[in-house]
Amino acid sequence: MSKADVLLGLQWGDEGKGKIVDVLTPQYDLIARFQGGPNAGHSLEFEGTKHVLHTIPSGIFHADKQNLIGNGVVIDPIILNREVEKLLEKGVDVSKNLLVSRKAHLILPTHRILDAASEASKGLSKIGSTLKGIGPTYMDKTGRNGIRVGDTELPDFKDKYEFLRNKHLELIRLYDYSDFDLDKMEQEWFESLKVFNRLPKVDSEHLVNTYLQQDKKVLAEGAQGTLLDIDFGSYPFVTSSNTITAGACTGLGIAPNRIGEVFGIFKAYCTRVGSGPFPTELYDETGEKLRQIGREFGSTTGRPRRCGWLDLPSLRYAIMINGVTQLIMMKSDVLSDFDTIKVCTSYRYNGELIDYLPYDLLSGKIEPIYTEIKGWKTDISTCKNSHELPLEFLNYVQFIEQQVNVPITILSVGPDRSQTMFR
Ligand code: GDP
Ligand code: IMO
Ligand code: MG
Repeated sequence: MSKADVLLGLQWGDEGKGKIVDVLTPQYDLIARFQGGPNAGHSLEFEGTKHVLHTIPSGIFHADKQNLIGNGVVIDPIILNREVEKLLEKGVDVSKNLLVSRKAHLILPTHRILDAASEASKGLSKIGSTLKGIGPTYMDKTGRNGIRVGDTELPDFKDKYEFLRNKHLELIRLYDYSDFDLDKMEQEWFESLKVFNRLPKVDSEHLVNTYLQQDKKVLAEGAQGTLLDIDFGSYPFVTSSNTITAGACTGLGIAPNRIGEVFGIFKAYCTRVGSGPFPTELYDETGEKLRQIGREFGSTTGRPRRCGWLDLPSLRYAIMINGVTQLIMMKSDVLSDFDTIKVCTSYRYNGELIDYLPYDLLSGKIEPIYTEIKGWKTDISTCKNSHELPLEFLNYVQFIEQQVNVPITILSVGPDRSQTMFR
């Protein structure tokens, strides 16, 4: 019996999960998304084309590998259909290698409206949600009101839908929110459901465990990042699911003792999109330089991402929570033009030196303490082998490894599949 490996983000999302899942897929039989929904935007590039996936696992470009949307995921059939169609235009037919869990929950049009109404009511303290209906859908899941994929196969599906929709409309009235055209949204939703219904539905926990029993290799693909986790992220500025390794257990039905390698992925610096605390954020031209060179604009919403230096206390925290066994460092090439690179090793918090993330990041004053590292000032994006990398860059890698005590086994130096080095 084999164990499932997990790959997930250690920061605030957009670490480059899509790219690395695609690179690792040849080593696996099944790639499975375990949580989140179309708030995710996973990009990958090969043969000169960039692809962005929101719901479909990033193993989809390998026709001989199965891809599963697990029970922990929330699905908007409209967005999923658009993804399926876009892939078809590029010659990728998902009908043979994409499976959907019956226990995954559906995002209804009124979930999206509730998301928008809730954000509008918060004014300046809004979460900065992607407005895909994620929060309201997970609220209905834990509130035991949700509609699941399997319900679409049952005779009372329409009744269930109308009951929940009407309940939502009452809530929306309380928000005094009217900026929507529900008829149009519903028409599109039911239309897309026809296509969605053709995708194979499975009892995914059995499927995943059968793969493991048959010694086949399973990779669980994370979405978002550890610092957006509902329990351990910078609450309330988080998403509404468990983005951590434990989420792969509940989001796929994998027992904790059947988890193998945990690949923790991080950028060589930090970014965050949406609101919430970000201790190493740069508001100056250095932040702007990171954003421009790193093309830091959201894959889902196009919003500019906030940028800052690498934050080791929060990275150590994420490694601890997830049980990370191997690290993957992304976008190292973005730092190639800096004379000096800063790394936050601890914080000064309300006048005291600490090396962990404190509970109250909002009213307390947190100031990063930096170590400065000499930059390499050489283009590394064409390096194919770690022996070709400049010494200053290897020093940066080694410094991080020593600080967090986990090996960095994969280095990414550009968005393309080929710009990846194994150490
Ligand atoms: P994900 O959500 O974790 O899959 O990450 P996103 O796809 O949202 O964001 C990562 C962005 O960085 C995408 O535009 C990728 O094409 C790009 N990218 C990934 N790895 C690298 C890298 O090593 N260097 C550079 N310059 N870009 C990268
Ligand atoms: P991937 O998988 C970056 C952020 C949003 C917002 C907060 C809550 O591409 O890394 P939500 O729509 O979940 O209610 O938004 O979480 N967020 C992400 N940020 N990458 C993501 O996914 C994200 N998914 C959600 O910007 O701050
Ligand atoms: Mg993304």
